[in-house]
Amino acid sequence: MAILRLTDGTVYHDRADIDRELAPLNIQLQQWPVGNDPQLLSILNQPQLSAEDQNIVLRHLDHYFEQLKPSGYQSRDIIDIHPALPGIDEMLAKFDRCHTHADDEVRYVVAGAGIFGFVRPDKSQIELTVQAAEQINVPAGTEHWFCLTPDRRYTALRYFINNDGWNPEYTATSILFRETIS
Ligand SMILES: [Fe+2]
Repeated sequence: MAILRLTDGTVYHDRADIDRELAPLNIQLQQWPVGNDPQLLSILNQPQLSAEDQNIVLRHLDHYFEQLKPSGYQSRDIIDIHPALPGIDEMLAKFDRCHTHADDEVRYVVAGAGIFGFVRPDKSQIELTVQAAEQINVPAGTEHWFCLTPDRRYTALRYFINNDGWNPEYTATSILFRETIS
């Protein structure tokens, strides 16, 4: 289940608290069960997924893509991040700074976890850890960043209205969670 952190150290686990904190951002966090298929569950338990396994996961979960299509979603893919992934640091560095996108960023986490940070309209910042079987929609124009939890394991399906729409447009905002007192 998702975990939400405030910059003052407050941590929320309850869904009502998390929804309240996300409300100013108009972000929707949803539970999307992966189901009980033994093959799918076995694949998702692996430390990393082969290209063939990734395609199997996509096919198993395409009923969610079908639900999104009427809203304009035209494509989907899968990203499988694990500690041994070549170029992992360079890839992560692209999104570990405050940025926006011209399109919504829709992610369905199916293994591991990812941390989505947000700048709220009042300039306060929050970090939301999204876990397996949770789907998040970050609206276009929302100032945010993304990083991994310490185990660096994150497998997610990504849904696109327009593939060009999610190139990062960087902002100058610094991430308050990273500021340390020396
Ligand atoms: Fe992003």
